Amino acid sequence: MMEAAATNSPIVTAYRQKTAGSNKLAARAREVLPSGIVHDARRLDPYEIYVTHAFGSRKWDVDGNEYLDYYGGHGALLLGHSHPVVVEAVTRQLECGTHYAACHELEIEWGELIKSMVPCAERVRFTSSGTEANLMAFRLARAYTGKSKLVRFGGHFHGWQDHAAFGYDSHFDGSPSPGVLKEIADNVLLASADDVEATSKLLEERDDIGAVILEPTGASFGLQPIAPTLLETLRSITFKRGIVLIFDEVVTGFRVAPGGAQSYYGVTPDIATFAKVVAGGLPGAAVTGKKALLDLLDFDVAAAKGFEKISHHGTFNANPASAAAGVAALTFIRDNGACETASRQAAKLRGLLNQIFSELGVPWAAYGLHSAVYVYTNPDGDALDPRTFDALKYPVARLRGMKKGELVRKLRLALLINGVDVSSKPGGLTSCAHTDADIEQTAEAFRRALKMLRDEGELKQAAA
Ligand SMILES: Cc1ncc(COP(=O)(O)O)c(C=O)c1O
Repeated sequence: MMEAAATNSPIVTAYRQKTAGSNKLAARAREVLPSGIVHDARRLDPYEIYVTHAFGSRKWDVDGNEYLDYYGGHGALLLGHSHPVVVEAVTRQLECGTHYAACHELEIEWGELIKSMVPCAERVRFTSSGTEANLMAFRLARAYTGKSKLVRFGGHFHGWQDHAAFGYDSHFDGSPSPGVLKEIADNVLLASADDVEATSKLLEERDDIGAVILEPTGASFGLQPIAPTLLETLRSITFKRGIVLIFDEVVTGFRVAPGGAQSYYGVTPDIATFAKVVAGGLPGAAVTGKKALLDLLDFDVAAAKGFEKISHHGTFNANPASAAAGVAALTFIRDNGACETASRQAAKLRGLLNQIFSELGVPWAAYGLHSAVYVYTNPDGDALDPRTFDALKYPVARLRGMKKGELVRKLRLALLINGVDVSSKPGGLTSCAHTDADIEQTAEAFRRALKMLRDEGELKQAAA
């Protein structure tokens, strides 16, 4: 059975009452899709909402309910849903064809835009997903350095391929998750982003490390923030030791700033991977980096220098529809301050939520960087002041452990009842389509959701 707890919960009952159409579709889905879903992060007990359409900051479900959306296409929608410049570009392209199995000008334009915006992007290779882009980044680094070991940080997510499929929300000891070869896991060294000293020592002492990869704002876009010095420390050691530094900018790219986290923080990696925003809401991703590294994909350089190139295919790499969306979105982001707008709205929401937590005596804190809003739900009910909450000082296990709890499940359901969709982290991302009125409406929805949780006995009081 899908539902974990019996439904004597008024929140679950109210959710079911509002979403009968979704319930029906979920039952049908479970007969064909494992767990009835297509992405693990979408699992929600008793069932997810089924959406029919979306525009700007909002989406609507099959029962006609309207939601302010903070899931944001898993981070892809910095411009919000169905942004007119993207819709226009993609519609125009669809009429001209979606796949030529041939070169087209948009792929050059898309690559040129990325090259002009992203500091490390001397060359660009397109893939279809962030998972693939990271896989290619690892391969490039290994082929370039001739070294087998890859250093990753516990909690940082880099897609679901074998090198990254453990150590982000389980298997923190580096053991392989089901289906992953031990031999692959043995070549991945999991470091702790909290322990800069131990990480530095690892990189200084071992001679078999080809690459280090991290999310440059910390795991899950700052859900677990990193010490501000970590990026520079890693840059300087990897430079000295000839290790390839990879920034996974799948979320941060074109969201933190038009040039990604690397331009915002002023630290340029050797390789950066992008997905989500880079393709304007359609499938698409890119590996970017130093020419010397991307040259490993180049037929002519390989022939001239006498090495075997890395082979790379991918039916939908830079397909015309994704390229059209990517060009439209990146041009808009470059010219219209979209990153700043989204970040400003997130800061506003964090501030309003903290005000509400204080007013209601709920010992929670809204925190986050840039366009992220996370809610620390304080599972142990410790005393905390949301105005001075510093996630860096909190145990990582607590920050990332929240999403598994019953409280967060009910918070999500209570927010959906009140017209707001957030992820199970719990939290969400703003877009530049979120208006001041949206942010205020969201804060009020939180107020109502908290009341529902309190009435149901789910809220711990702050410790005295
Ligand atoms: C930081 C990060 N890297 C990589 C990925 C994988 O990207 P994709 O889902 O496009 O394969 C994700 C996806 O959420 C991500 O958040």
